[in-house]
Amino acid sequence: MIIAVDGPAGAGKSTISKLIAKKLNINYIDTGAMYRAVTYKCLSEGVDVKNEEAVIEVAKRTDIDFRDNNIYLDSKVVNEKIRTREVSANVSDVAKIKEVRYLMVDVQREIGTRNDVILDGRDIGSYVFPNADYKFFLVATPEERGRRRYKELCEKGFEGTLEEIIKDIEKRDEIDSNREFAPLKKADDAIEIDTTGLGIDEVVEAVVSKIK
Ligand code: DC
Repeated sequence: MIIAVDGPAGAGKSTISKLIAKKLNINYIDTGAMYRAVTYKCLSEGVDVKNEEAVIEVAKRTDIDFRDNNIYLDSKVVNEKIRTREVSANVSDVAKIKEVRYLMVDVQREIGTRNDVILDGRDIGSYVFPNADYKFFLVATPEERGRRRYKELCEKGFEGTLEEIIKDIEKRDEIDSNREFAPLKKADDAIEIDTTGLGIDEVVEAVVSKIK
């Protein structure tokens, strides 16, 4: 069984997907974490993310794995390192490179053919698994999405403003939605859920009620 959960940044995809994976006892793959891991590696190596050739070269010699709720980049756990504002600010430039996407999508499809899995991302229902058993598209207003990210970042010591975070998110969504290859897009047959003002349990319930 494949469940695809797509939508813009901060719509609640990963929180919801993790809980559903637990509830249904299936695997969870955070596909955004894969693009983040490549971005983190580029930044660590001083590679300019606008230099496509160099980014592709990095992606080709990158090993990404998910085990026990951890993401491994070249055998090292990078759960927190890939969630910085710096990685967020650069990840859309990495994710728009077609060759990088091919490499990540190969891994995603491989995992999907071996296990029952819920994947969250931007193009899971529209491109990676067009025949997924269930497709959801989560949305929320930019203000609500910004507030969620802001809260997370503040817990990690962020001292900027909510407005900055909303701007970051809107910029990322714009690049993700307008890239040429496999952009952020609702699949025609996806169920859209507006999570604005809904609690986590309510969204989980809304999703699970559609899964037989
Ligand atoms: O879900 P996230 O915010 O961690 O995703 C980080 C970035 O990765 C996002 O801005 C776009 C990109 N991404 C993508 O292009 N395709 C996916 N399937 C998942 C994420």
